[in-house]
Amino acid sequence: MKHFISVDQLSNEEICQLLIDAEMYEMYNDHKLLDQIFAANLFFEPSTRTKMSFMVAERKLGLEVLDFHLESSSFIKGESLYDTVKTFEAIGADVAIIRHEADDWMSELENINIPIINAGAGKAEHPTQCLLDLLTIHQEFGEINNKNVVIVGDIKHSRVAKSNANTLARLGANVYLSAPPGYEDEKLPFPTIPIDEAIQFCDVVMMLRIQHERHMEKNQTKQYLEQYGLTKEREQNMLKHAIILHPAPVNRDVEMDGDLIECERSRIFKQMTNGVCMRMAILTHVLKEWGIIHENVVKKLKAIN
Ligand code: CP
Repeated sequence: MKHFISVDQLSNEEICQLLIDAEMYEMYNDHKLLDQIFAANLFFEPSTRTKMSFMVAERKLGLEVLDFHLESSSFIKGESLYDTVKTFEAIGADVAIIRHEADDWMSELENINIPIINAGAGKAEHPTQCLLDLLTIHQEFGEINNKNVVIVGDIKHSRVAKSNANTLARLGANVYLSAPPGYEDEKLPFPTIPIDEAIQFCDVVMMLRIQHERHMEKNQTKQYLEQYGLTKEREQNMLKHAIILHPAPVNRDVEMDGDLIECERSRIFKQMTNGVCMRMAILTHVLKEWGIIHENVVKKLKAIN
């Protein structure tokens, strides 16, 4: 059985089905699973949105949530990631949701026998964020194919940029990157253009947080915003229908003007709302794939169809 580690492991059809399922979870509220299922949220890096929206998604599905606090766990006494996850497997967790600072933390978990969902892997991947971003774009435009999307900022240290750039391109979007010197990622094969050019033709402007925790560079905030960020003046030059995304948390007045977070074209809080229904869809997809749930959820979805 496959752990849910990367969007790359999903076919385009599976991505589309997740978008449909997430929309259904957003529209209809009663999707409690009948069996007792335990979900362990193992966050070894800080999180507000991902951790809490997984928790809401789990509770909406009727899962029993095993919350894990790093600072009071035996990880502090030197227990390994593998031993921590194996412990949750041994005490009856049915699924583990994991965030960790290492890019390849999943490589030591191959022998874990419960499904694992990647809630953030270092600078490498953030698949659930990518899927909720796809949902937000799809809700806005009714399609992803042929949309012009620019990803702006600290691309080198961003797991969101990597998951999104490759998946958006696979779904037919035209992907552009805009990064200050030193923040480019040469492994991503997309054109790099200045932000002033990008805002003139892009339908989606996806801003990224400077990942200060992953490098030592401290930017002069005002200078960074004016040179590379989304200022109010640049927002005025965006296409009339264009939207702003940001995975958040936002460094206000660094990568974007703080006043733009709640401007008319911002979908930043919509992204967070979408995080709940998309994570419900991902949880049920994984639980079904592993045979942990069967017809109880499927029946409910079919009844709605
Ligand atoms: N976007 C995101 O992953 O936010 P958190 O770090 O708060 O989970």
